[in-house]
Amino acid sequence: MIIDAHGLRKTFTTRTRKGVQTVEAVRGIDLTVGKGEIFGVLGPNGAGKTTTVRMLATLIVPDAGEATVAGHDLRKEPGAVRRRLGYVSQTGGVEDGTSPRAQVMLAARLHGVPDPARRTQEALAAFDLTGVADRPGRTLSGGQRRRVALALGLVHAPALLFLDEPTTGLDPHNRANLWDRIQRLRESGTGVLLTTHYLEEADALCDRLIIVDQGVVVAEGTPAELKRRLAGDVVTLRVGDAATAREVLAPFAEEVRLDGDALRAYLDDGEHRLPAMLRALEEQNVPIRSISLDRATLDDVFLAKTGRSLRDAA
Ligand SMILES: Nc1ncnc2c1ncn2[C@@H]1O[C@H](COP(=O)(O)OP(=O)(O)O)[C@@H](O)[C@H]1O
Ligand SMILES: [Mg+2]
Repeated sequence: MIIDAHGLRKTFTTRTRKGVQTVEAVRGIDLTVGKGEIFGVLGPNGAGKTTTVRMLATLIVPDAGEATVAGHDLRKEPGAVRRRLGYVSQTGGVEDGTSPRAQVMLAARLHGVPDPARRTQEALAAFDLTGVADRPGRTLSGGQRRRVALALGLVHAPALLFLDEPTTGLDPHNRANLWDRIQRLRESGTGVLLTTHYLEEADALCDRLIIVDQGVVVAEGTPAELKRRLAGDVVTLRVGDAATAREVLAPFAEEVRLDGDALRAYLDDGEHRLPAMLRALEEQNVPIRSISLDRATLDDVFLAKTGRSLRDAA
């Protein structure tokens, strides 16, 4: 295990004109990450993802909970933990006035990397930044900036890398490119813990993940396990009379939910049950406006656990 954490908690207290406000950002989170694994923390804005990562990266002290990170106790040996990890924050850390090379070089020196110039060159090359290495940060595109942030987090070859929302704001091309690079890190044996509010990202990239909401874990597993546990298929219907349709369909599905004006029925083996479902609706004179059959997504998992859609919540 490269991370083994139990019962992490953090409450923030802020003084405002209206008095003291407390926010229970993280309310008891457990997580374990294996060596060379890409582990995801998926959840909407405000779920407590950044706070969780900042605790594990020694940037803030938990109010409660224990963790071993990269072989060291988070509370007793924060310095040893810090030396073994890389941290890429949500906002990046690429300065406008300096070049990528100068910044990566500085990070290498701060970490006491032997032969920092050579390591800087390698880190820049690994992220395809050689061509822009000597330009001022302000002239870089969004995708290039994110890659510089990654090079900064990796220049000292950490055993464990924390990526907080690494692809937020990137276009699909740059996102795919970054996914590819993160996958290559796994091949090199680096442990990666990433946070995201993108379902597709968690699904495509993570070996295992937790889904968090309001500071607690609502589900945990591999993307495939999570989707399967909930039932494999979803039939989405738009009908004239949703209340009647819901009753008619209940015996066919493990769960039927009303999501806006759509009914979503969760079931195994949708292909074979669908004809009988349609016949039952017809017998009860429920007009069907549209119908689709899909595999359950991680959003369905989130919806089943919280009653909200992650797409709306994020
Ligand atoms: N330094 C802070 N002071 C006060 N409240 C904070 C602080 N950091 C985070 N919070 C609050 O804690 C909650 C969780 O925030 P965060 O961990 O940033 O969530 P996420 O990264 O999932 O969007 C939010 O309600 C946020 O406003
Ligand atoms: Mg965040």
